[in-house]
Amino acid sequence: MPDSLERAQDSISFGDQDWRDIYTDATLRSLIERALDHNKDMLIAAARVKEMAAQKRISTAALLPDIKGKVTAERELENHGGDAFKRSETFEAQFLVSWELDLWGNLRWARSASIAEYLQSIEAQRALRMTIVAEVAQAYYELVALDTELDIVKQTLKAREEGVRLARIRFAGGLTSETSYRQAQVELARTATLVPDLERKISLKENDIAYLAGEYPNKIARSRLLQEFNSPETLPVGLPSTLLERRPDIRQAEQKLIAANAKVGVAYTNMFPRLALTGGFGSESTSLSELLKSPYAVMEGALLTPIFGWPKALKGAVKVKEGEPTQSVADQEAIKALFPNTYGMPLIQFVEGEAVNMPAINVGVILSGGQAPGGHNVISGLFDGIKALNKDSKLYGFILGPGGLVDHNYMELTSDIIDEYRNTGGFDIIGSGRTKLEKVEQFDKGLEIIKELGIKALVIIGGDDSNTNACVLAEYYAAKNCGVQVIGCPKTIDGDLKNEMIETSFGFDTACKTYSEVIGNIQRDCNSARKYWHFIKLMGRSASHIALECALQVQPNVCIVSEEVEEKNMSLDDVVTYIAQVVANRAAQGNNFGTVLIPEGLIEFIPAMKRLIAELNDFLAANASEFALIKKSHQREYIISKLSKENSEIYASLPEGVARQLTLDRDPHGNVQVSLIETEKLLSDMVAVKLAQWKEEGKYVGKFAAQHHFFGYEGRCAAPSNFDADYCYSLGYTASMLIVNGKTGYMSSVRNTTAPAEEWIAGGVPITMMMNMERRHGEMKPVIQKALVKLDGAPFKAFAAQRERWAIETDYVYPGPIQYFGPTEVCDQATKTLQLEQGK
Ligand code: FBP
Repeated sequence: MPDSLERAQDSISFGDQDWRDIYTDATLRSLIERALDHNKDMLIAAARVKEMAAQKRISTAALLPDIKGKVTAERELENHGGDAFKRSETFEAQFLVSWELDLWGNLRWARSASIAEYLQSIEAQRALRMTIVAEVAQAYYELVALDTELDIVKQTLKAREEGVRLARIRFAGGLTSETSYRQAQVELARTATLVPDLERKISLKENDIAYLAGEYPNKIARSRLLQEFNSPETLPVGLPSTLLERRPDIRQAEQKLIAANAKVGVAYTNMFPRLALTGGFGSESTSLSELLKSPYAVMEGALLTPIFGWPKALKGAVKVKEGEPTQSVADQEAIKALFPNTYGMPLIQFVEGEAVNMPAINVGVILSGGQAPGGHNVISGLFDGIKALNKDSKLYGFILGPGGLVDHNYMELTSDIIDEYRNTGGFDIIGSGRTKLEKVEQFDKGLEIIKELGIKALVIIGGDDSNTNACVLAEYYAAKNCGVQVIGCPKTIDGDLKNEMIETSFGFDTACKTYSEVIGNIQRDCNSARKYWHFIKLMGRSASHIALECALQVQPNVCIVSEEVEEKNMSLDDVVTYIAQVVANRAAQGNNFGTVLIPEGLIEFIPAMKRLIAELNDFLAANASEFALIKKSHQREYIISKLSKENSEIYASLPEGVARQLTLDRDPHGNVQVSLIETEKLLSDMVAVKLAQWKEEGKYVGKFAAQHHFFGYEGRCAAPSNFDADYCYSLGYTASMLIVNGKTGYMSSVRNTTAPAEEWIAGGVPITMMMNMERRHGEMKPVIQKALVKLDGAPFKAFAAQRERWAIETDYVYPGPIQYFGPTEVCDQATKTLQLEQGK
């Protein structure tokens, strides 16, 4: 740097000066002082500094031993019969010391975080102080400048008036034309208009200053002219590098970073066990005079380990808050008639309540239907819930689903067993099954073992069909006054057991994240080799929630949504043409590769197929024994001969394999086993035929080679994501609260699930509220209504808005495996479906 310039620098910056040295005008100084004392934001900032200082002291104190003193006197009167009254007195004086050993630095991280937050509040206050000083001064100078401008305008006005007077005389004397006179009048008028505008600006500026000073609008006293200001002779011009370090906004941001870092430390060390030592010293005696003669001392160490996140409202005693009475989603009269004892009950929410002594209770639990990640945590939550109320409570698990209840196949679930299964995937703790509970003999058989084991309540963890079972059972036991409660928990990876009160079924989150990881891997493979089209069928017997959620996570080239196919009345050929067109468009760009997601239940949503399957269901239900006698090789012809003309033609047009798969046994609830139908192969074969035809017609140039996948079973027993682990534990714990509060026919409900687990809302929903009448096995039955993908819902709309781009571009996302430890944005997020549904 040239010497001359270097010498011209000084090392003092303007920022080093106190505002009193800069603003020497006494009126301005007093204004700034008033603003600093009364400005509302300054008062808030000062209160925040005090709050943070207190927090800092609290977190520092947490490092020290906690010492308490307690003195009690107790008189107890007992009468165990007759007039044998017994009186006993106890006097106690006690010192209690407890000290948490900060083994992993959790408390020290918390202290660092609160110190940084305290410093942050101080820097924020300083920054605000500087801003207020500058804003008041600037407004004040602007006000004085406006005053000066007004003075000048007023002087000009006077001059203009004089000009008009002279122009009038000169015009009257014939010295000038009328134009000059009128011109002088115009100038006078123009100048006059400036006055009210300036007066308005002045009063606005005064209001600004009053607001800054925390006052009501008023007149602001000020020096008259700028000339009266005592401006400093020179201003320091130095710009030392330390200036940056001193800027309060930068220092505030720095402290914010330090606090955030310390909070990561707190979150991380929260995952480790905490060791607390407690000691007590005191004396206890039955007579006050003997108190000091009976000293005692105790010492204890407790290792606490954190396991789950769950609603704050459940972390202590709870009470029931009842909502409005409910009614079923449809067919109210029919459902009411079928469930007279459990229809119309109110919604329930648990809120903090008083601790009460509860007698021990025995509870039975059943895992029902397809596996879903987190089932073991529902059982853990249920176990912890009933044990928290009374340690002598017992939990019995019925083996291999509802069949275990009927067959009296059970085991007691002790804490050793439960601890082994916490946070693990699968249902293997007691196994699951699909037996449908619908016959009175089954209910009565179940009742026998329930009575034998002294079970007060049964918890059925299952999907829509299993919870329908739960509801039917609850009604039956209530009608017979058996004193047995039945509670349901919403399970299914399919995500179709949901409504306003059940935000999602458990397992959906983990299953979708697991499938998305593998689809992502396939997409990377596909994008690397660029030679295959991957047709991927995804589980979800009926609704397309899984396919849609995976599409939102991985951005494939094609995702078929069954509900849209039905809504648009698309034929199988329409679906094939749509996929083939995407293949052809990409081929035109030289991209002979891609991914197609197909929901498992698609086949049942193609209107013509739906009609065919409905007729097949009724026919097979009515003629099961006759059909069983037909030789496999003749079954196709037999079915063709029995169906109506339209359905028989469609059936005959289907490939041999798919036709056979459509006649396989229904599950116990009457559902076609769509997991056994190879829709992905059917579609890819038909796409290949269509492309060959287009090639001949010169409409398509490219290569088409397909690979097939079916993802379902690999996601159903995955280790639960953090979301499912917490959600399931909360559902189980909530179920225990429903039991303790004497409820039956309710489903455990945990809401507000896109917020942190602590803020979730726990309660219960009457199962009848979710029911309607549907045709099953050829008869109308009460069942829980399935929640299908809504085409006007946010998740589908988000997908539809992007699918054209994803079709032509290779815009894949590779989500990678589920994360358990790390930032909450990565590890604890709910599915995109849930977030979009809740407007997040
Ligand atoms: P649930 O409704 O019982 O939760 O089961 C759903 C599901 O996983 C479907 O996605 C799938 O079609 C079906 O189970 C498969 O059943 P299974 O386990 O009997 O093969």
